[in-house]
Amino acid sequence: MYHERDRETLIVIKPDAVRGSDSDVVSRFEDVGMKIMGMKMVRRGSAARGHYSEHVDKEFYDRLVEYMKQGPVVAMALEGVNAVENCRKIIGDTNPKDANPSTIRGRYGHMSFAHADGSDSTHQNLVHASATPEEAEKEVGIWFEDDELHDYRIGSEEHVR
Ligand code: TYD
Repeated sequence: MYHERDRETLIVIKPDAVRGSDSDVVSRFEDVGMKIMGMKMVRRGSAARGHYSEHVDKEFYDRLVEYMKQGPVVAMALEGVNAVENCRKIIGDTNPKDANPSTIRGRYGHMSFAHADGSDSTHQNLVHASATPEEAEKEVGIWFEDDELHDYRIGSEEHVR
Protein backbone atom coordinates (compact mmCIF):
# COMPACT_ATOMS: atom_id res chain seq x y z
CA MET A 1 0.00 0.00 0.00
CA TYR A 2 1.23 3.52 -0.79
CA HIS A 3 2.38 5.17 2.43
CA GLU A 4 2.48 8.93 2.20
CA ARG A 5 5.49 10.67 3.72
CA ASP A 6 5.09 13.34 6.37
CA ARG A 7 1.80 12.12 7.87
CA GLU A 8 2.78 12.26 11.57
CA THR A 9 4.62 14.58 13.91
CA LEU A 10 5.51 14.99 17.57
CA ILE A 11 4.56 18.07 19.54
CA VAL A 12 5.79 18.79 23.07
CA ILE A 13 4.09 21.57 25.01
CA LYS A 14 6.96 22.74 27.20
CA PRO A 15 6.65 23.68 30.92
CA ASP A 16 6.21 27.42 30.29
CA ALA A 17 3.19 26.79 28.03
CA VAL A 18 1.68 24.16 30.36
CA ARG A 19 1.47 26.96 32.94
CA GLY A 20 -1.13 28.94 31.03
CA SER A 21 -1.50 28.60 27.29
CA ASP A 22 -1.65 24.81 26.94
CA SER A 23 -5.30 24.51 25.91
CA ASP A 24 -4.85 27.18 23.24
CA VAL A 25 -1.73 25.44 21.96
CA VAL A 26 -3.68 22.19 21.60
CA SER A 27 -6.51 23.94 19.79
CA ARG A 28 -4.13 25.58 17.28
CA PHE A 29 -3.37 22.11 15.90
CA GLU A 30 -6.94 20.85 16.17
CA ASP A 31 -8.25 23.96 14.42
CA VAL A 32 -6.40 23.12 11.21
CA GLY A 33 -7.73 19.56 11.30
CA MET A 34 -4.74 17.67 12.71
CA LYS A 35 -5.74 14.45 14.49
CA ILE A 36 -4.40 13.72 17.98
CA MET A 37 -3.22 10.09 17.87
CA GLY A 38 -1.77 10.22 21.38
CA MET A 39 -1.54 12.77 24.18
CA LYS A 40 -0.16 12.66 27.72
CA MET A 41 1.33 14.78 30.50
CA VAL A 42 4.73 13.58 31.73
CA ARG A 43 7.76 14.82 33.63
CA ARG A 44 10.62 12.67 32.49
CA GLY A 45 14.27 13.71 32.22
CA SER A 46 15.30 10.62 30.26
CA ALA A 47 12.82 11.44 27.49
CA ALA A 48 13.99 15.08 27.43
CA ARG A 49 17.63 13.99 27.13
CA GLY A 50 16.86 11.46 24.36
CA HIS A 51 14.65 13.94 22.59
CA TYR A 52 17.44 16.54 22.38
CA SER A 53 20.34 14.08 21.93
CA GLU A 54 21.33 15.77 18.65
CA HIS A 55 22.24 18.86 20.72
CA VAL A 56 24.30 17.01 23.33
CA ASP A 57 27.51 18.85 22.33
CA LYS A 58 25.95 22.33 22.29
CA GLU A 59 26.62 24.78 25.10
CA PHE A 60 22.87 25.12 25.73
CA TYR A 61 22.14 21.35 26.09
CA ASP A 62 22.20 21.08 29.91
CA ARG A 63 20.13 24.25 30.31
CA LEU A 64 17.65 22.96 27.72
CA VAL A 65 17.17 19.63 29.52
CA GLU A 66 16.78 21.46 32.87
CA TYR A 67 14.07 23.65 31.32
CA MET A 68 12.24 20.58 30.01
CA LYS A 69 12.24 19.12 33.56
CA GLN A 70 11.08 22.31 35.30
CA GLY A 71 7.51 21.04 35.24
CA PRO A 72 5.37 18.53 33.40
CA VAL A 73 5.20 18.67 29.61
CA VAL A 74 2.37 17.54 27.34
CA ALA A 75 3.45 15.26 24.50
CA MET A 76 1.17 14.89 21.48
CA ALA A 77 1.49 12.64 18.44
CA LEU A 78 -0.41 14.26 15.59
CA GLU A 79 -1.47 12.97 12.20
CA GLY A 80 -2.31 15.04 9.13
CA VAL A 81 -1.28 15.86 5.57
CA ASN A 82 2.26 17.32 5.58
CA ALA A 83 2.08 17.11 9.36
CA VAL A 84 5.69 18.14 10.01
CA GLU A 85 5.68 21.05 7.58
CA ASN A 86 2.31 22.36 8.72
CA CYS A 87 3.06 22.10 12.44
CA ARG A 88 6.43 23.86 12.05
CA LYS A 89 4.55 26.69 10.37
CA ILE A 90 2.07 26.84 13.25
CA ILE A 91 4.76 27.02 15.98
CA GLY A 92 6.99 29.61 14.25
CA ASP A 93 10.67 30.51 14.47
CA THR A 94 12.83 28.86 17.16
CA ASN A 95 13.71 32.21 18.77
CA PRO A 96 10.47 33.87 20.04
CA LYS A 97 11.88 37.31 19.15
CA ASP A 98 11.87 36.33 15.46
CA ALA A 99 8.61 34.35 15.46
CA ASN A 100 5.68 35.83 13.56
CA PRO A 101 3.00 37.07 16.03
CA SER A 102 0.45 34.74 14.41
CA THR A 103 2.46 31.67 15.46
CA ILE A 104 2.44 30.01 18.90
CA ARG A 105 6.00 31.12 19.72
CA GLY A 106 5.29 34.62 18.43
CA ARG A 107 1.95 34.99 20.17
CA TYR A 108 2.94 33.71 23.62
CA GLY A 109 6.58 34.75 23.71
CA HIS A 110 8.82 37.61 22.68
CA MET A 111 12.11 37.27 24.53
CA SER A 112 15.28 36.74 22.49
CA PHE A 113 17.78 34.03 23.40
CA ALA A 114 20.38 36.83 23.60
CA HIS A 115 18.35 38.62 26.27
CA ALA A 116 17.90 35.35 28.16
CA ASP A 117 21.69 34.89 28.13
CA GLY A 118 22.28 38.45 29.34
CA SER A 119 19.79 38.15 32.20
CA ASP A 120 20.76 34.57 33.12
CA SER A 121 17.24 33.33 32.23
CA THR A 122 16.29 30.03 30.63
CA HIS A 123 15.70 30.02 26.89
CA GLN A 124 11.98 29.31 26.69
CA ASN A 125 9.97 28.93 23.52
CA LEU A 126 6.77 27.19 24.65
CA VAL A 127 6.51 24.29 22.25
CA HIS A 128 8.41 21.75 20.16
CA ALA A 129 7.43 20.30 16.79
CA SER A 130 9.53 17.75 14.87
CA ALA A 131 11.65 19.30 12.12
CA THR A 132 11.67 16.38 9.63
CA PRO A 133 9.60 13.21 9.02
CA GLU A 134 12.61 11.12 10.18
CA GLU A 135 12.85 13.14 13.40
CA ALA A 136 9.08 12.76 13.88
CA GLU A 137 9.29 8.96 13.70
CA LYS A 138 12.16 8.87 16.20
CA GLU A 139 10.48 11.32 18.59
CA VAL A 140 7.05 9.64 18.58
CA GLY A 141 8.96 6.47 19.59
CA ILE A 142 10.69 8.30 22.46
CA TRP A 143 7.50 9.68 24.01
CA PHE A 144 4.87 7.00 23.19
CA GLU A 145 4.38 3.25 23.45
CA ASP A 146 2.50 1.66 20.54
CA ASP A 147 -0.63 1.08 22.66
CA GLU A 148 -0.77 4.80 23.54
CA LEU A 149 -1.37 5.73 19.88
CA HIS A 150 -4.96 5.47 18.70
CA ASP A 151 -6.43 4.92 15.26
CA TYR A 152 -9.84 6.55 14.77
CA ARG A 153 -11.56 8.94 12.41
CA ILE A 154 -12.40 12.62 12.94
CA GLY A 155 -14.89 14.80 11.07
CA SER A 156 -12.37 16.55 8.80
CA GLU A 157 -11.31 13.18 7.36
CA GLU A 158 -14.66 12.96 5.62
CA HIS A 159 -13.37 15.78 3.40
CA VAL A 160 -9.58 15.27 3.37
CA ARG A 161 -8.58 11.69 2.53
P1 TYD B 1 16.49 23.60 17.49
O1 TYD B 1 16.32 22.14 17.21
O2 TYD B 1 17.56 24.34 16.75
O3 TYD B 1 15.14 24.40 17.24
P2 TYD B 1 13.61 23.95 17.18
O4 TYD B 1 13.13 23.75 18.59
O5 TYD B 1 12.90 25.12 16.52
O6 TYD B 1 13.54 22.69 16.36
O7 TYD B 1 16.79 23.81 19.04
C1 TYD B 1 16.17 23.01 20.01
C2 TYD B 1 15.89 23.84 21.22
O8 TYD B 1 17.12 24.28 21.80
C3 TYD B 1 15.14 25.13 20.93
O9 TYD B 1 13.74 24.93 20.91
C4 TYD B 1 15.56 26.03 22.05
C5 TYD B 1 16.94 25.55 22.40
N1 TYD B 1 18.00 26.46 21.88
C6 TYD B 1 18.67 27.28 22.76
O10 TYD B 1 18.38 27.25 23.98
N2 TYD B 1 19.63 28.11 22.29
C7 TYD B 1 19.95 28.18 20.98
O11 TYD B 1 20.84 28.96 20.60
C8 TYD B 1 19.25 27.33 20.06
C9 TYD B 1 19.55 27.36 18.59
C10 TYD B 1 18.29 26.47 20.56
